[in-house]
Amino acid sequence: MTDSDLKRLYPISATINSKNHFTIAGSDLSDLAESYRTPFYIYDRDTIHENIHRIRSAMADFYSGPGTIAYASKAYLSRKFASKIATEEVDLDVVSLTELRFALAAGFSPDRIHFHGNNKSIEEIEIAVDQNIHAIVVDNMDELLLTERIANSKKKVAQIWLRITPDIRVATHPHIETSAATSKFGFHIINGDAANAIEYAVNSSALCLTGLHCHLGSQLFDPLPYQIAIEKMFDLAINCNYTPLELSPGGGWGVPYVEDDPDSNPEQWVKAISETITKKCNRYQIRLPKLILESGRFIVARSGVAIYQIGTQKKSVNGEKIIAVDGGMSDNPRNALYQAKYTATPVDQSVHSRKNPCKVVGKYCESGDVLIDNVMLPDLNYGDLLMIPVAGAYQLSMASNYNLAPRPVVLWLEPEGKVEVLQERENLEQNSWWD
Ligand SMILES: Cc1ncc(COP(=O)(O)O)c(C=O)c1O
Repeated sequence: MTDSDLKRLYPISATINSKNHFTIAGSDLSDLAESYRTPFYIYDRDTIHENIHRIRSAMADFYSGPGTIAYASKAYLSRKFASKIATEEVDLDVVSLTELRFALAAGFSPDRIHFHGNNKSIEEIEIAVDQNIHAIVVDNMDELLLTERIANSKKKVAQIWLRITPDIRVATHPHIETSAATSKFGFHIINGDAANAIEYAVNSSALCLTGLHCHLGSQLFDPLPYQIAIEKMFDLAINCNYTPLELSPGGGWGVPYVEDDPDSNPEQWVKAISETITKKCNRYQIRLPKLILESGRFIVARSGVAIYQIGTQKKSVNGEKIIAVDGGMSDNPRNALYQAKYTATPVDQSVHSRKNPCKVVGKYCESGDVLIDNVMLPDLNYGDLLMIPVAGAYQLSMASNYNLAPRPVVLWLEPEGKVEVLQERENLEQNSWWD
């Protein structure tokens, strides 16, 4: 592991202690492995705090209107994690009833909650309306009519945003690109759906259209598509004689996973967005809307680390070394889903043998159960601990019970070795399918 990897990919509190072991927030990861067994995940409080602080400071520096950060909880949420995030004074994006319930249980005030999704259930919309959440982010005409009907039946006015799809391509894996003309998400501008939705919503007495939203995709490093999308949204709104009070250009800002990935520079993202909104508002002589940035990956990815124990090793016919660990696609399906790249390093940094190209695989019955296609590692033994950084986003939240694997234990680390269990290791024997 290079110094540059340590500074960019691992939590900001990561160091190597006098035993040459990796420590995070003062906790030696090999001690944590003894106490909690592998595989386990950690989240570093200081990294999350710092990432939120960077976006918040950039908003203060570059945007002169009101603004806030919303954590996109689909990146990772548990009940206890929701309480931790609540202390950061951010808004919360949810996309399911359970996420909404966790948010409310953690003390998020309903007026800090936004409900996304392209097919919300009647129950989800009813509860969102009952709770008077800040915005139900309506995705399509069926949902707009359903939300209006539910609000009418309750004699209430539902606060909504419309999800606008600007029909632009972005540079990321197709599975996490959400703004193209063929996307399943949102009201497309290109076919007139977005204009029709705005017109319908502003004329409905059961709906209060407070803002417009778009989300372009995830793991983006270029601010230009955000600028194009914002311009399109303002042109659309003004053509419809509508002035948005709130504007959410989504989340999606990327983070490096491996040495070759670019640095993450959220200041560049916030600056470009702020300047474009300001330019459009000046041009149309309207007030700056409240800006809501919905970051998930940038806030939590680097704060998370997955720790596994090495099991069997073999050489494949092409000479490649295959190392199997005690987790895999059930806790991290990202390589299987998007060929996502990762790096890894031993927890015990005193191993100094020559490094060889290795493939890190899981223990599950699928050839796609690969965690890392190619990583340089020293010679390691059965039982050694291997850690994979940048593990905080879209791993556990997409985890499964494939092969009836229990989801791993998740720890929250604070300075001076303070450890709290966020999520116990799942006990499938307590599950109804055991009986
Ligand atoms: C509507 C919406 N907002 C925000 C996000 C967060 O994206 P990211 O985690 O890449 O910042 C997503 C992710 O899919 C999303 O769908």
